[in-house]
Amino acid sequence: MKPRLFVTRESFSDVLDRLSRYYELEVWDRYKEPSYDVLLAKARGSDALFTLLTDRIDCNLITSSPRLRIVAQMAVGYDNIDVRCATERGVYVTNTPGVLTEATAEHTWALILALARRVVEADYFVRWGEWRRLGTAWHPTMLLGVELQGKTLGVVGAGRIGSRVAEIAKAFGMRVIYYDVVRNKALEERVGAGYVDLERLLEESDIVTLHTPLTPETKHMINEERLRRMKRTALLINTARGAVVDTGALVKALREGWIAGAALDVFEEEPLNPNHPLTAFKNIILTPHIASATYDARRKMAELTVENLIAFYEGRIPPTLVNQEVVKVRPPGFQ
Ligand code: GLV
Repeated sequence: MKPRLFVTRESFSDVLDRLSRYYELEVWDRYKEPSYDVLLAKARGSDALFTLLTDRIDCNLITSSPRLRIVAQMAVGYDNIDVRCATERGVYVTNTPGVLTEATAEHTWALILALARRVVEADYFVRWGEWRRLGTAWHPTMLLGVELQGKTLGVVGAGRIGSRVAEIAKAFGMRVIYYDVVRNKALEERVGAGYVDLERLLEESDIVTLHTPLTPETKHMINEERLRRMKRTALLINTARGAVVDTGALVKALREGWIAGAALDVFEEEPLNPNHPLTAFKNIILTPHIASATYDARRKMAELTVENLIAFYEGRIPPTLVNQEVVKVRPPGFQ
């Protein structure tokens, strides 16, 4: 009998089809994610799960699924999974690092450029007739933005994505400083990035971009006190996780002009309510958690998730295993 695998959303059927040689597949085919209760019921009867970041894999779900051996997540972030609990129960957790680095870094730059040069605002300006209403084709002070050359980019979290964002900054002639809990000497050598503490980064940067995972330590790391440290002309970019920023404090910062603008791809509340106070500001750009949404990256994410599931089935350690210590609790495979 093949092990049972519940796939929590449809994606690339040709990629998923590879799994049917190994697993008895059930694919959730609705656009919206299964509710927690449905997920709980499906997990109870499953040996393996193919999950997304919208699926809550908490300790209750893990402990009520006695057959469950692997949770293969199609995302680099895995803050939706209780990894400690999974490890204790001998459940393997995998993610998809690397394959979405470029897409996420490129989206970060799309947001930086769009915010610095007011691209979204300018589009509305044309579309809604403001340009026509003002009646002049070109004015010396119309829609002025900020130039990147010579400015300072502060990268918070210098892992794969943060490092790639830092590298691209060199092409714009920016000075790069970074903060992380561990120093990244390779980044310092490659990009000439300066290692500083978070407080100094916030004080010196013209653009602050966030690339940390969401953990208890990084939750609300960008809080009121830290937003107040930023320059009044600074821009804040978040393509990491919404809860790294205290949203209430950010709303206050924008309302009171402590910073000049923000571009956010991630939110504490997703999907964001269109009536949320954040949507009222002109100097903010909002995208719906799509930083990794390129055809290339999403296919590779699905493929890597499949690779992890096949490796586990074959009794091999999955290539991108999150909880390495689980190997001591249980060997890989379904025996
Ligand atoms: C997306 O947010 C991811 O973690 O892959």
